[in-house]
Amino acid sequence: MRHAMQHDLDTLLRTIAADVQPLLGEGGVAEYIPALARVPRAQFGIAVATVGGECVGAGECDTRFSIQSLSKLFALTLALQREGDALWRRVAREPSGTPFNSLVLLERERGIPRNPFVNAGALVVTDVLCSRYLQPGRAVLEFVHRLLGETGVAIDTEVAQSERAHSDRNAAIAHFMRGFDNLHGDVAEVLDAYCAQCAIAMSCRELARAALFLAADGRQPRVGEVLAPLAARRINALMLTCGAYDAAGDFAFRIGLPTKTGVGGGVLAIVPGKLCVCAWAPGLDANGNSIAAAAAIERFAAATGSSIFAAPPGGH
Ligand code: DON
Repeated sequence: MRHAMQHDLDTLLRTIAADVQPLLGEGGVAEYIPALARVPRAQFGIAVATVGGECVGAGECDTRFSIQSLSKLFALTLALQREGDALWRRVAREPSGTPFNSLVLLERERGIPRNPFVNAGALVVTDVLCSRYLQPGRAVLEFVHRLLGETGVAIDTEVAQSERAHSDRNAAIAHFMRGFDNLHGDVAEVLDAYCAQCAIAMSCRELARAALFLAADGRQPRVGEVLAPLAARRINALMLTCGAYDAAGDFAFRIGLPTKTGVGGGVLAIVPGKLCVCAWAPGLDANGNSIAAAAAIERFAAATGSSIFAAPPGGH
């Protein structure tokens, strides 16, 4: 039974990898981070990790890429572990309908970011980590090591320095929130830690395994409880409503799963109770979401009938 499922998944992922090939030339790369602008677009990988312990991949599923905003999932989890619900006094839980790096809502909403996935919210989360860790730039990396049970994953320092040298926008957001007393630490220290976490390099296979606790009510296989079930479910709710920024509605419409995207081209989706799937292709649409990776996850959700809005088999 186990092997049959692995075989089916293997075939499905290979089919998806072949189907999305024509999309790989589409889109741009994140020009505002010079080290990312050099990444060749014709690459694609996909991997699935199941709560039952299988891990299956296709294409360049073992090639590491810049996880960028996918790191916000791990940073948020760590901040919730440390801060609990007090975090929600500083970050709201609404979709923003704005680009990930927008400042426009912050003035009207007095420095409280709409959600923890837009850059403003992620910077508050990093500020929490800066107040809790002696080496905040390594906190997210070391958490990923614990989740994976191995220490091979590293920060790409060239990408970290490249983003840090071009971080005027995030600096503006951070200073603005500090003006509203919603960022307590030193802005430069927060930006250093934020750029370091975004520059972690991981493969689809590693990401699917590391985020599996989100599919398992907060329990990471072989590690134990990472978050209480309610907190893990809430992260899934935020992924569905805010994980793809101003395309979150479109992602929910097309895919029907909690997803998170990053400008490195990664898209990660959770099938609660079952699995975590991660796809990667560097070409991005105008919202900064990977075109081919989103299309791959859309095909995966359709082929497996795993939209969270689908009635369970035999349930109707
Ligand atoms: O802060 C930034 O702009 C990047 N380090 C991360 C943005 C990102 O990945 C948005 N996702 N689509």
